[in-house]
Amino acid sequence: MRILYPCNPLEPKEPDQPYTDECIAIQQLGIPVSLFAYDNLSFGDFKPLPRIESGEMVLYRGWMFNIIAYQEFTDFIRKKGGIPLTSAADYAHCHHLNQWYSACADLTPETVFLERDSNYLEQISNLKWDAYFIKDFVKSNTDGQGSIANTPEQAVKIIGLIEQYRGEIEGGVSVRKVECFQPQSELRFFVVNGTAYSPIPEVPAIVETVTQRIDAPFYSVDVAKTVEGKERIIELGDGQVSERKTWTLERFINILAQIG
Ligand SMILES: Nc1ncnc2c1ncn2[C@@H]1O[C@H](COP(=O)(O)OP(=O)(O)O)[C@@H](O)[C@H]1O
Ligand SMILES: [Mg+2]
Repeated sequence: MRILYPCNPLEPKEPDQPYTDECIAIQQLGIPVSLFAYDNLSFGDFKPLPRIESGEMVLYRGWMFNIIAYQEFTDFIRKKGGIPLTSAADYAHCHHLNQWYSACADLTPETVFLERDSNYLEQISNLKWDAYFIKDFVKSNTDGQGSIANTPEQAVKIIGLIEQYRGEIEGGVSVRKVECFQPQSELRFFVVNGTAYSPIPEVPAIVETVTQRIDAPFYSVDVAKTVEGKERIIELGDGQVSERKTWTLERFINILAQIG
């Protein structure tokens, strides 16, 4: 297996800064890595260095892609002779909330999906919920106002903020019921080829349940506790583009080493 990291745009021979430690530690484990210019992919330019060997499994660790760009990325990897560990379909399955939701509906806040540029106000008003948690299919609103709306009008405003700050609504809009989580209770777990890995000594039952239901080679599972003490899934993510959160570098690279 080879791991691809985005290079630093100013120093192409070095990994992009947030991935430097991980890239060095992975090489110390003897796993081959290559660097490529993330921003050049949109110009059709993909020249990983060192080159990918023919027939090699390829894993990526780096910035998020939208699902069209990830499809293009995996096409580039194949053209260079590599085999992407995570197909475009696998990526979308964990990256987009509407794709994993039906398999985990009983484990995560109830969610309604709205088509991009549809009549948001009418559809949200029809829900008549007390409050609405708003995100697109990938991320919540990072603006100061946050993602929780108490009225449909506020919800529409948050959709506008997500569009403004991130440049686009990715996929569509997710409107989620608001649940009350214990502060600081959220933890990230990783699943590699059906096995769950935990940053704490045990793997919670809810994560094991997810592993039975979601078929993708490498993904993350975020779990928080409600104020009543119930474990709930906050979101899944593709493992390649998930931050390490509370994981130490050492523990995290040990799971990457399990992959290949
Ligand atoms: N339905 C919800 N009700 C209340 N709080 C939520 C809900 N969903 C998410 N949150 C809180 O908002 C945070 C960000 O939401 P999340 O879905 O993880 O989006 P992001 O992709 O931006 O991380 C979560 O860590 C959690 O604390
Ligand atoms: Mg999150």
